[in-house]
This record gives sequence, C-alpha cells and structure tokens, in this order.
Amino acid sequence: MPEPAVIIRDLTVAYDGNIVLEDINLEVARGEIMSVVGPNGSGKSTLLRAIMGFKRPAKGSILVLGRSPDEIQKTGLIGYLPQNMNYDQNFPVSAFDIVAMSRYSRKGIERLGPEDRAAINGSLEKVKMQSQTDKHFGSLSGGQKQRVLIARALAMKPSILILDEPSIGLDVVAQDSFYRLLQKLRDDEGLTIILVSHDIGGVSGVVDKIACVKRQMHFYGSPKDCIPSTALEKTFGTNVYFLSHDSECGTCRRDK
Ligand SMILES: Nc1ncnc2c1ncn2[C@@H]1O[C@H](COP(=O)(O)OP(=O)(O)O)[C@@H](O)[C@H]1O
Ligand SMILES: [Mg+2]
Repeated sequence: MPEPAVIIRDLTVAYDGNIVLEDINLEVARGEIMSVVGPNGSGKSTLLRAIMGFKRPAKGSILVLGRSPDEIQKTGLIGYLPQNMNYDQNFPVSAFDIVAMSRYSRKGIERLGPEDRAAINGSLEKVKMQSQTDKHFGSLSGGQKQRVLIARALAMKPSILILDEPSIGLDVVAQDSFYRLLQKLRDDEGLTIILVSHDIGGVSGVVDKIACVKRQMHFYGSPKDCIPSTALEKTFGTNVYFLSHDSECGTCRRDK
C-alpha cells in the first residue's frame, strides 16, 4: 500500500487561544476525492490552511506526501483554489493568460518558452477549455471560470488539488459537470483532491470520503456508509435532511 497523501493526527488549531479545530484524525489515500463538509465557521478553511502550512497547529501532526506542511509548501506539489477568488471582471486577460500566470510565478519575468505553452495548453485541454483559450476571462460563465482556475493549478503539475468551496455560485448543471471533471482528474491523472463544501447533499454522490467537521470531526468515512444522524446533527444542527440511502440500508436502520 502506498503511503497516504495526507495523514492528520490529533490536530488542534486555535486563533489567539480560541480553539477552532480539536483532535482531528484522518487519512486521505492517494488518488481519492475527500470532501470536508460543515456549516460556515466550522473550521473547514482552517483545516485546509493547516494542511498547506499556512496555519501552524496548536497540537498534533500533519504529514503531506510524507513531508511536513512547511516543506510541502515549497514543492509546488499542492495546487490550491482559494475560497471567493475575486477578479476584476474588466481586467483584459484571456483564459490562456490566467493559466500562464502560474508558469510566470515559477519563472519570474522570463518569457514563456515552448515547454510553458505546452503545459498551459495541455492543462486547458484537461479541463475541456481548449476552444476558449483566447476568450476574455471576465466574459466566461462561472463554471468555465472555475475550469480555467483548475487549469492554472494543473499547469504546476501538482499531486494534490485543494479546492475551497469551488461550487459556490454555480448552477446545478455547472456544478454537476464540475464534479464530473474532478472525478476525471482523479481517474485519468491520479490526482488526490481535497474539496471543501457546505453542501453535503451535493458532494456525497461524488466523493470517496467525507469528513463532517464542526470544530471536531463527527464523521469520517465513505458517503456510501450511512452517516449516523447524530453525526449530522452535531455538524449541521437538527434541521438538516440528507438522504443518500434507501430503506434497505442496514446502518440507517440500526441508527434509528
Ligand atoms: N485569521 C483568523 N483569525 C481569527 N479567527 C479566525 C481566523 N480565520 C478564521 N477564524 C475563525 O475560525 C473559525 C473557523 O473559520 P473557518 O476555518 O474560516 O471556517 P469555515 O471555512 O468552515 O467557514 C471561525 O470562527 C472564524 O471566525
Ligand atoms: Mg471557509
């Protein structure tokens, strides 16, 4: 068995002494899609920041591809799409330019060479945006913009892709096609994908593992295993309705 992509043990994270994540334990296997779900303020983005080495734990340990978050930060092995990327819609850049930025950030102000152009075009092809490379980025739909931003992350040739609430603002059709793209990247490129969402219903049919987080982790496992209603209540409160199983599900019946 290859070593997991991410191993988190007894992780506690605090801001100014206020604990926002407590005793988190999880492993993400290579080539798996894992989603962190929970309501606003539950610590999802903080967990991503800790994995990427932007936020130091108060307690516990994190290993990413066998290295510490500090070390992994310098390798370019993590591609990251932050929450709420705000672009000036009028800024005159094309889809190609957006992806090219990742290559410039690696090379400074040197001109792009044939290898860079191949990496940029190859990434746009992987997200099925090759026919839109010269389009003004601001004129693309929400789903197309997300694809271009994924291409930008892919141009760095990462092993792990980390996405913070990538489906916000996408309509149901765009969301569905976006999730299918993530599955294709997992299957064709062997990428490990960690994705934050507050929409457990939306991701549960897509991902391999799900982590329900609200300060503590109330469930970690496959969404195919029935998630106990107590875990859902602890994460989302009592007003959440989440159906992913039929009446034959043994775990569901035991849980009632
Ligand atoms: N830089 C920060 N300084 C202080 N508190 C923070 C900071 N970032 C997040 N928090 C707090 O930590 C908690 C978890 O935030 P966050 O990880 O952003 O949650 P989520 O992504 O689930 O909405 C919230 O209560 C938030 O106010
Ligand atoms: Mg967040």
